[in-house]
Amino acid sequence: MARMCGIVGYVGSQSALDVVVEGLARLEYRGYDSAGTAVSADGKLTVTKRAGKLANLREALAGTLPPGGADDSPGEDGTPGRSGIGHTRWATHGAPNDRNAHPHTDCTGAVAVVHNGIIENFATLRLELERRGHDLSSDTDTEAVAHLLEEELAKGVGLADAMRRVCVRLDGAFTLVAVYSGEPDLVVGARRNSPLVVGVGEGENFLASDVSAFIAHTRDAIELGQDQVVELRPTGVRVTEFDGTPAAVTEYHVDWDVSAAEKGGHDYFMLKEIAEQPTAVADTLLGRIGADGRLSLDEMRLTDDELRDIDKIIIVACGTAYHAGMIAKYAIEHWTQLPCEVELASEFRYRDPILTRSTLVIAISQSGETMDTLMAVRHAREQRASVLGICNVNGSTIPRECDGVLYTHAGPEIAVASTKAFLTQLVAVYLIALYLAQVRGTKWGDEVFAMVQLLGTMPQKVEQVLETIEPVRELARSLAGERCVLFLGRHVGFPVALEGALKLKELAYMHAEGFAAGELKHGPIALIEQGLPVVVIVPSRARPILHDKIVSNIQEIRARGARTIVIAEEGDEAVVPYADTLIRVPAVPTLLQPLVATVPLQVFACELATAKGHDVDQPRNLAKSVTVE
Ligand code: F6R
Repeated sequence: MARMCGIVGYVGSQSALDVVVEGLARLEYRGYDSAGTAVSADGKLTVTKRAGKLANLREALAGTLPPGGADDSPGEDGTPGRSGIGHTRWATHGAPNDRNAHPHTDCTGAVAVVHNGIIENFATLRLELERRGHDLSSDTDTEAVAHLLEEELAKGVGLADAMRRVCVRLDGAFTLVAVYSGEPDLVVGARRNSPLVVGVGEGENFLASDVSAFIAHTRDAIELGQDQVVELRPTGVRVTEFDGTPAAVTEYHVDWDVSAAEKGGHDYFMLKEIAEQPTAVADTLLGRIGADGRLSLDEMRLTDDELRDIDKIIIVACGTAYHAGMIAKYAIEHWTQLPCEVELASEFRYRDPILTRSTLVIAISQSGETMDTLMAVRHAREQRASVLGICNVNGSTIPRECDGVLYTHAGPEIAVASTKAFLTQLVAVYLIALYLAQVRGTKWGDEVFAMVQLLGTMPQKVEQVLETIEPVRELARSLAGERCVLFLGRHVGFPVALEGALKLKELAYMHAEGFAAGELKHGPIALIEQGLPVVVIVPSRARPILHDKIVSNIQEIRARGARTIVIAEEGDEAVVPYADTLIRVPAVPTLLQPLVATVPLQVFACELATAKGHDVDQPRNLAKSVTVE
């Protein structure tokens, strides 16, 4: 089974193999433990697949890698072909080996299928197929689809009809894309609860898990709806429901280009994305502040009356997006006086959350595809709560299932570790909190205006952090031999500490923990030993009660031998005597400080991981879109 994965399909006059492999390269962030292609030409399919990163598949296609137990169909690897499909996999079940890599074929080798998702009734289907004499050679659920298609094709229907008939027999979430040697000018895709977009070209058409795979060829796209089958021919695209009735399609134009999906001169996408943060923050503010200084978020699709009726907010999200949610709580409660809870999306629906029609659930997700968050959204909607999405990927599943959405405009985030999406999620939650304050009258208009003006200065402040980041890089390199780093913060600095630790864990594979500084003396202080690096995020001096407490905490840990790395605003002299290393960030209002304080932590983790020789764009065991619960 494969849950995340990137899928590409192509039909047209170019070399299908080249287009598919190039598309896979752009989708590799979705999964990279095996990859494969199937190309249809001259009445036969050529299937090539390899465990490991795409580089292995490329070598195999170039004929430089000996078969490693792969079930390559006979045929000439590299045949140009008119149609082709490809897959880059992130396995959850079934070892990530050559045999389980996609595409999967039927008994005759005439049909090849790639798949993202889980077919829940696959055990039953597999048993039935085996009883009918099929020989299944992998441990995957996907292969069952290839054999089911084989049976339908044997009845004399075409691939598209066969796909429609098979889909209605499948339970679960899936994107399927198939080619058939009998119809070389056709690629067929199907979608249920898993992403798939169509790229519309001239004399050629594309299918992919996201637009980055085909953006070098076309920026015209079609969103596929739930339970739809798409037929791709060089001459056009036809979309139907699973029952065969023609479906209405929505075309849209992708407003970012291929250069945005490339590294722009940086060694890693992550570095590029960190550098893009001032622009991403500015873009997310763009168009949301009226000439009169008032916020206008009409795009949210929730009316002001609906927003006035809210009596509680619950934020659901995972990982980095959850940290954005934790910060949102401070802003929402302070500015709107509405109670706000933050819940890990994966826990939400298992604890009987109290939801009413006047609860607003905010789901934060960069990808818009995270299954835990999606299931939380569905649960909230079933309980009749209003659900607002904060998402970065236009047309992805979560915003489509929410009552309203506020898109972050971070542009494509390719590196697995989230950076610019996080900063723009913060901007989005600040905007929503201030908008609620404006609509509900919990802040005076001039107070909202003043804060919005300050938000408008944040791109320059983030830029300032990046301009003075070199000492952070040096520090990170000097700590590459450490086994553990702790992070401390208070108030909004606490989620920042958690985020700093998460980045270090996922990129440098180091033990890293974030703590609320006040909690330290209740146990974790026992971890402090001579020379242990401890990063402390010091709140703005504008909140002396917070600031002074954390200065005491720094003294406590230093007295116990910690090596203190202190992130404090410019002009904060109180911390100087206790900081072994001092990292300055611009002075900004307390609630906005995460926008500047997180950036050094991203750079720190990225540089430290690079110093350890890790691939920061594709850390081990991780994938960009976590479409599994
Ligand atoms: C960490 C990271 C993950 C994601 C999480 C949610 O750097 O990227 O923790 O934040 O998997 O993903 P989205 O925001 O796509 O729902």
